[in-house]
Formats: sequence, C-alpha cells, structure tokens
Amino acid sequence: MIAVVLVGGEGTRLRPLTLDRPKAMLPIGGRPFLAYMLERLAAADVTRVVFSCGYLPDPIVAGFGDAFDGMALEYAVEPAPMDTAGAIRFAIEGRLDDAPFFALNGDVLMEAPLGDLMAFHRVHGARATVTLTEVPDPTRYGLVLTDAEGRVEAFVEKPEVGAAVTLQPPYWINAGAYVLDRWFLDTVPYLQRVNIEREVFPLLVGHGLYAWRCAGYWNDIGTPESYLAANMHVSKGATVLGEGALVAEDASVDRSVVHEDAIIGAGAVVTDSVVGRGARIGARARISTGSIVAAGVQIADDRSVVGERVFREAPDGA
Ligand code: GDD
Ligand code: MG
Repeated sequence: MIAVVLVGGEGTRLRPLTLDRPKAMLPIGGRPFLAYMLERLAAADVTRVVFSCGYLPDPIVAGFGDAFDGMALEYAVEPAPMDTAGAIRFAIEGRLDDAPFFALNGDVLMEAPLGDLMAFHRVHGARATVTLTEVPDPTRYGLVLTDAEGRVEAFVEKPEVGAAVTLQPPYWINAGAYVLDRWFLDTVPYLQRVNIEREVFPLLVGHGLYAWRCAGYWNDIGTPESYLAANMHVSKGATVLGEGALVAEDASVDRSVVHEDAIIGAGAVVTDSVVGRGARIGARARISTGSIVAAGVQIADDRSVVGERVFREAPDGA
C-alpha cells in the first residue's frame, strides 16, 4: 500500500523556523515531525511512502533516507509548486497500482489509526474519503458537512462569514488525511497546479466523496501556537530541549521549545516561545508570549522580546 505525504509547502506561518528546514522536519518533542507520521503509516500496513517535496527537500532526504520501519521511502521533487492536488498527482505518477492509496498533509499530528480510515473507505465503496476532526473555529481549515452515512454534502475551504454554508457548531473540518483511488489519475492533470481542497473535493460532492470522523488528538502544527501546543502535548507540558541545547542553571524555560544547540544564558527567562537552532539568549534576557527566535540569532543580555519574531537579519536587510 502506498502513501503520498505532502511536504512541499513553504511553512510561511512558521517563519523564521522554516527558513532553514521544512515544516515537516521541525522537532516535536525532540524528534522530527515526520517520524510520528511514518510510525503511523507503518502501523497502517503502508509499504511505500512517497514524499511530495518542493521547498527544501534536502533536509528530509538527509534525515530519513530510503527506508523507515520496513517501508520504502521515495522522494518526488516538483519542478515548481503544484499545490495540493497537483503535487499528489506528480508524486503518484508511474507508481500506482489498482489499490487505493493514502494522501496526507505533512503537518498534521494525529493519533487515530489510519488503517481504520482505509477500512471505512473500502466498506463504503467510496471514490475518495477525507478524515474529519472537530474544532472550535473552522476558519483556518476546510469545513465539511456530511449526511448520517458519512456522505459529504459540502466542502468549503477556509470558510468566511457569509459563506454558502451556515456556520454553526459542531464544526467538523478536513483533518488532512485522505484515501484516494485510481480515478484521481484521470481527473487531475499531470504537471499542473491544482488545489485539492478548492478544485477537486467540491466537485466530488455527491459523487462518492465520503468522510470518516476520527477520534483522539489532532493538531496541524503549521502556526507558532499550534507548533508549541503539539510539543506540549507530546512532552506532557514539559519544556522540550533539543540535542546539544544548554540552559544555564539559574535560567528558567517554561512551556517552550528550545531547538538543537541553542544556549539560554544565566538568569534568562523563556516562556511560551520557540528558540531556534544554535540561537543564543543573553543573560537575563526575557523571551515570552509566543516569540520565535530564528536559528543562529544572538539576543543581547537584558533584552526583552515579547510576542515577536526575531529574524537572523531583518527582512529589509537592515
Ligand atoms: N508538494 C507540495 N507542493 N506540497 C504542498 C504544496 C505544494 O505546492 N502546497 C502545500 N503543500 C503541503 C504543505 O507542506 C502541507 O503539508 C500540506 O500541503 C497542506 O498545506 P498547508 O499550507 O498546511 O494547508 P492548511 O493547513 O492551510 O490547510 C490544509 O490543512 C487543513 C488541516 O490542517 C487543508 O487541507 C485544509 O482543508 C485542512 O483543514
Ligand atoms: Mg497545514
């Protein structure tokens, strides 16, 4: 069984953390995010994983190589960003057999067993099945309405007030894990930019598009808040220190993630923030309220950084 994992996005909402490695390689609880996803795929009897790469593929190839837990790993690097459906189409070219395959957003931490998603797809004879999870606010996701049997009745990406569907809780949204079938090859043109959420799923409504509601933890790590939350979930609320990171004895670090080789100086206080790889936080500095310090940056002694993103060089070159 094949799985395509979308890892080609630029991770803009997580900058500057995604300037030197893609979102899928950011550490969660000290391990690259993709390690969690690969474990779940192996548990669902996947034998071949194709990474759909675009932006910064090299750290992924260097990190995972060609095998993981008995699965073969392959890399399809796009010549240009092809968006979600175009990227899956590009990655599956020449690899598909007659079996349905998984397609997954490469930034979603979820605990529900993917084998159950595949079983649901087969039992319903679906053309495509999307996984749903419930969230309090659907606006940054794809909102999905279904009937009692799980047939999708509407798929609205990033719904706004005034959307064609009534916005009323409970909100079930696209969790970013699909099972697709061979028809996909004929529907989505090769080497073209196509968005699965806006251009493919809405057309499949009423034509075999089903939804499977998953239980358990679910989180898209694509924003600073959710990246921190995913780390806190995995580490059960403890601060996560990357390999080689050092925290001075009288410094305090809470609800934060400190990446590899970063140094937190004497008396510094870091809360609810991310300190990038190799960054140095000066003595008595305060980093708080969702701040992100880029890899390699030096924060001066006594400086206070509140809810700020600190880039290695200011974006305007100053
Ligand atoms: N290869 C490739 N090429 N991958 C891409 C491209 C591309 O051009 N564009 C995006 N991706 C990858 C991203 O790296 C990510 O893993 C995945 O596709 C989804 O893109 P995001 O940018 O993270 O989308 P989103 O979070 O705003 O929305 C998506 O995920 C939500 C759930 O987390 C949608 O699928 C929503 O419907 C969904 O609710
Ligand atoms: Mg996302």
